[in-house]
Amino acid sequence: MCGIVGVLGNHEVAPILVEALKRLEYRGYDSAGIATVNHGTLDRRRAVGKLVNLSDLLVHEPLAGKAGIGHTRWATHGAPSVANAHPHQAGPVAVVHNGIIENFRELRAELAEAGIAFVTETDTETVALMAQMYMDRGADPVSAANQTLDRLHGAFALAFLFQGQDDLIIAARKGSPLAIGHGDGEMFVGSDAIALAPLTDRITYLEEGDRAVVTRTSLEIHDANGTLANRAVKTIQIDATRVDKGGHKHFMAKEIAEQPTVIGNALANYLTAEGHIALPDPGVDFNDIDRLTLVACGTAYYACLTAKYWFEQIARIPVEVDVASEFRYREPPIPDRTLALFVSQSGETADTLAALRYCEGKAARILSVVNVPESSIARESDLALPIHAGIEVGVASTKAFTCQLTVLLMLALKAASDRGTLSADALADHVSALRGLPALMSVALEQNGAMQNTARRLSEARDVLFLGRGLMYPLALEGALKLKEISYIHAEAYASGELKHGPIALIDKHVPVVVMAPRDVLFEKTVSNMQEVMARKGKVVLISDSEGLKEAGEGVWASIEMPQVHNAVAPILYALPAQLLAYHTAVAKGTDVDQPRNLAKSVTVE
Ligand code: AGP
Repeated sequence: MCGIVGVLGNHEVAPILVEALKRLEYRGYDSAGIATVNHGTLDRRRAVGKLVNLSDLLVHEPLAGKAGIGHTRWATHGAPSVANAHPHQAGPVAVVHNGIIENFRELRAELAEAGIAFVTETDTETVALMAQMYMDRGADPVSAANQTLDRLHGAFALAFLFQGQDDLIIAARKGSPLAIGHGDGEMFVGSDAIALAPLTDRITYLEEGDRAVVTRTSLEIHDANGTLANRAVKTIQIDATRVDKGGHKHFMAKEIAEQPTVIGNALANYLTAEGHIALPDPGVDFNDIDRLTLVACGTAYYACLTAKYWFEQIARIPVEVDVASEFRYREPPIPDRTLALFVSQSGETADTLAALRYCEGKAARILSVVNVPESSIARESDLALPIHAGIEVGVASTKAFTCQLTVLLMLALKAASDRGTLSADALADHVSALRGLPALMSVALEQNGAMQNTARRLSEARDVLFLGRGLMYPLALEGALKLKEISYIHAEAYASGELKHGPIALIDKHVPVVVMAPRDVLFEKTVSNMQEVMARKGKVVLISDSEGLKEAGEGVWASIEMPQVHNAVAPILYALPAQLLAYHTAVAKGTDVDQPRNLAKSVTVE
């Protein structure tokens, strides 16, 4: 996804736009640009690569003006280049865009028919050219923008700036989030409140289909039907939008270290003093539910795979889990008493949102587990459960994952309590294990040194395998994703018992195999699989507790000791070594930990 920002200010906007883009860089960072109107003249500066390159350009080629728009890009159409960087300009119109214009080829053909040439490969240029075409036909800026917006299909958040208009930005939201910030005699537009936090805490979130005409002293919003709409001005908690590394070298390191605290926050928001699980209104009664469908992408999908074990073992509810990008194209039947649950850190992932919309009118209830309560997925759910992880900037998800797991386990316990499938003592035992998690995670974080040493050795590998059984299998999948997405080392995960059915052919003395295995009921079986690896000279990294290491640690290539933990919460605790191994491996390899190549924090395109 991309980040967009707009400012109608009382001061030079170039530095303000760049600062706001810095707070949006986690959304995409392969090129960036700004455009301003200065005494009526529209001009722009763009640079490929990280935002710092745009800052450097602006030192040598400053851009004046107190009205402007800006953009940081994650390429969808057209390679990262200056030509393809936003803002795109066509004559008197400049535009920045987050999303995808799905009918841009059809519109390009129409423009080509009219003799209008293109200079880029992007869908966004089409938007600027359409607006210019309508202005050439005599439309004023507002009408030209509206006529253009009427022609667009797909998902977009857009901001338009016009030659000769020092006090006008037109903003539109359809499928990608967009917020309006209210200043004192100034107005702002941004992809999210994080970008605008240093400028204002008074935010209006545009609704789906809204179009806004913004001046320094006015905001006029029309809804999807063209009706004048009155949208609330919310006051956001500024500290909730604080974005700094807190003394750590990377955001990812900070967010890994924050996990004891934020898991404590998640627990505090759902556990009553008596140890009961209280959901926000309108809540859900699991006696009305016969099955669950869990849908998500990436790390959030692995959280759902973990939750499947909990809901089925503890609450005895059949669960289906799907990757969002496959789900709706499978056209799965959704029986009446189905609860559909969507997990998403950003709450804006296009695949997951599309899957949620497939379930509308079919599932009995639609729930979401999100880190951004005002996100699209949250707003379109019957009930959104915030995970209280705080802003997660590192593209590789860490604290959001463990907070998702914490909330999902509490939801499974609520289901068990509603359906009477868990005794009061067993429920209390699980709640006690959850309450003990923050302290255990702090203990586990003390193993950072051991993990750093192991990671240094992993960083020389070309391929790494991860193995897990039961609740540890989804975690093995997450560990493989963490490693590959930030260190670029090829990594795959298998259910331990599956290795001998083919993948064991990959094992030789060059291949590290990370085995995640607390000393639980499945431990012996996992040890057998581990020994099959060692018999073929595979280099085993055993992550277990003291008992497990005592029993099976002999002869392994490396080992990491974790505290003893209740079996049900082991996946949450063991996420730490998975995260830290990936982090230190990436640091050892010198890759960009917080903004790995080709990735974006939330993928708001399908
Ligand atoms: C995880 O480390 C990745 N950044 C990615 O897989 C992410 O989990 C996925 O894109 C889903 O994002 P969401 O949770 O915001 O929906």
